[in-house]
Amino acid sequence: MSELLSESFGLVAQLVEQKPLKLLVLGSSPSQPTISIPMKIFFLGDIVGRSGRSVIKNHLPKIIEEFTPDLVIANAENLAGGKGTNRKTITEMMQAGIDAFTGGNHSFAIAEGHEIFERNDLPIVRPANFPEGTPGVGWKLITGKSQKRLLLINVLGRNFMAQHMDCPFRSIEAILAHVPREDYDASLIDVHAEATSEKQALRWAFDGRVSAVIGTHTHVPTADADVSDQGTAFQADSGMNGSLDSCIGVKKEIIIKKYLTQLPVTNELMHEGRMQMNGVLIEIDDMGRAMKIEHLRKVV
Ligand code: FE2
Repeated sequence: MSELLSESFGLVAQLVEQKPLKLLVLGSSPSQPTISIPMKIFFLGDIVGRSGRSVIKNHLPKIIEEFTPDLVIANAENLAGGKGTNRKTITEMMQAGIDAFTGGNHSFAIAEGHEIFERNDLPIVRPANFPEGTPGVGWKLITGKSQKRLLLINVLGRNFMAQHMDCPFRSIEAILAHVPREDYDASLIDVHAEATSEKQALRWAFDGRVSAVIGTHTHVPTADADVSDQGTAFQADSGMNGSLDSCIGVKKEIIIKKYLTQLPVTNELMHEGRMQMNGVLIEIDDMGRAMKIEHLRKVV
């Protein structure tokens, strides 16, 4: 992991030389200006099963080389077999270049995976608004390649979701009140939710108080990437990673049959055909204000 970090850090320096307009120049001395490089975060939506992990392994290294993010973060709730997360798949994705992970309604679908949420040394969070006593925590401070620190928060929406969760708004408020602002340079909330209205409400509730609010869970990227006047980046859903010729990762014939017959079906993931990679690249200034968000989508 450290070897990967140092390689990527070397590429940051290359980018500075190639694209000087990306720099913010601060300070008053013309001879020795203080140069500030924006913090870049690449956030990947739900990685769905084996095909999702393959897309990441095959294409993330090229994205890292081209965009040199300080941190790569991904939603991991569908990593193992489409539902759940375990140590093997987390390790596989860290080796592919992902630095930290968020979760969702399926975070605890695999019993053997619960232990990874209890480990402070693993960069993984689960929704903060799970009831008290649930394994793991809903926020962590993650240090990027440039040593800047990100406050990573994860919440689960409540509209059209099966779980009975605590209030995501109040959970985020409690975290922001608890973590001293000087302990982090930027902040990102993964809102794992079904309803775009709930995601938008969370966006505006914390506008100007966090660097980014990014949605996951629906597996379909939305065309609403935006940075508010207050400097909070938003996209209602960053989209999934895995099969494109499917219904959100599942074999389409199974889902069509389910709708036609209303009978229960057993989901099977799609591993053939076209694959997609979806994520958002966010640039954040020294004040923790987002400057730019860009949806990156690759179909292979
Ligand atoms: Fe989900």
